[in-house]
Amino acid sequence: MVRDPTGWMKVEYDKLVQDHLDWKIRELQGPSAPKAKVDGVEVIMLCSNNYLNLSNHPKLKEAAMKAIKTHGVGSGSVRAIAGTMDLHLELERRLAKFKGAEASLTYSAGFTANEGLIPTLVDDGDAIVSDELNHGSIIDGVRLTKAKRFVYKHRDMADLDRVLSEVEKDNPRRILIITDGVFSMDGDIAPLDKIAKAGKEHGAMIYVDDAHGEAVLGKGGRGIVSHFNLTHKDVQFEMGTFSKAFGVMGGHVSGSRDMVNYALNKSRSWLLSASHPPATAAACIAAIDVLETEEKWVKTLWENREYFVKRLTGMGYNIGNSQTPIVPAMVGDSAKAVDLSEGLYKEGILALPIVFPMVARDKARIRNMMNSGLTKAQLDQAIAAYEKVGKKLHII
Ligand SMILES: Cc1ncc(COP(=O)(O)O)c(C=O)c1O
Repeated sequence: MVRDPTGWMKVEYDKLVQDHLDWKIRELQGPSAPKAKVDGVEVIMLCSNNYLNLSNHPKLKEAAMKAIKTHGVGSGSVRAIAGTMDLHLELERRLAKFKGAEASLTYSAGFTANEGLIPTLVDDGDAIVSDELNHGSIIDGVRLTKAKRFVYKHRDMADLDRVLSEVEKDNPRRILIITDGVFSMDGDIAPLDKIAKAGKEHGAMIYVDDAHGEAVLGKGGRGIVSHFNLTHKDVQFEMGTFSKAFGVMGGHVSGSRDMVNYALNKSRSWLLSASHPPATAAACIAAIDVLETEEKWVKTLWENREYFVKRLTGMGYNIGNSQTPIVPAMVGDSAKAVDLSEGLYKEGILALPIVFPMVARDKARIRNMMNSGLTKAQLDQAIAAYEKVGKKLHII
């Protein structure tokens, strides 16, 4: 019998549907905003990473439109050939200053930063030490190296020490310790100060992915290195993204000038993929302008987080280990988490369930993402919906 070359895809997809593991894609009809139109329904948005609502800030929009007028809509090349515009270089200078680093390098996305940079740092004869709950883009970056992999229990410093002793038995040439800054499923923070201290004792490199701490943690949103009062001598790779709280798109890494010189010559995702359109680079620069001059956005984000957490926990919800504007409502059972999300949607609240295999089978939850653009009235509406549906489903 002649093979059906792609018939297996339908078989696999049908299985996902049968197991309720397929993604049902929603259509956003307009901007990603605290109040948004999704599939024809006006909802309060509790699942966007646009923490500061900067994607709708007039200064970012104006900067993007102006850059189209002056620089066109595309960059025409990869950065290394003819795709480095003055805007890309200005963005890197401004980001480095914002981060208190010697230099910064931008990538097309956070994912491609991890995928492109990690494999340049370690190879055969080296070791990577990774938190067990690190993001998929880190895992893919790690998979592209020949370094030996070691995993420590989530945020467990005793286990990190144990793993580092294990690593030393191989006498590796280099050691890379890598962690998310804020873990996106639980909203808890990596103890980066302790990780840096443990790493120093072994001469290890420290790499933090601050995608969810960017413009959220630290002085004026300067990120996790600032949050722990560390420097880029302690944490040599502060990686992040412009696609969440910055409200735009793009990955980046900050640290020493030597690191940036090396990384741009070696990262395949930097060398072999086109640079950002001018509008994207200009909007990212404007986001830094806003963060440097309008402190209220980060402040309001945290106020909204406290307001929401107080009321949600007050009515009996468990928010797990959340320490940040990522606030899970723990449910346990996957089917119940799906029912809660659907019930909330009927009340005009968009908050999505996180179920197996994204989290353990008994750790299903609704993940709420706070936003500085949410009004108290909108938060109250969300809280009222949580109370009504949670009681109906006997979650609270
Ligand atoms: C921890 C973490 N790292 C990296 C990324 C990827 O960032 P980007 O969307 O810019 O590719 C994400 C986004 O989901 C993330 O949560």
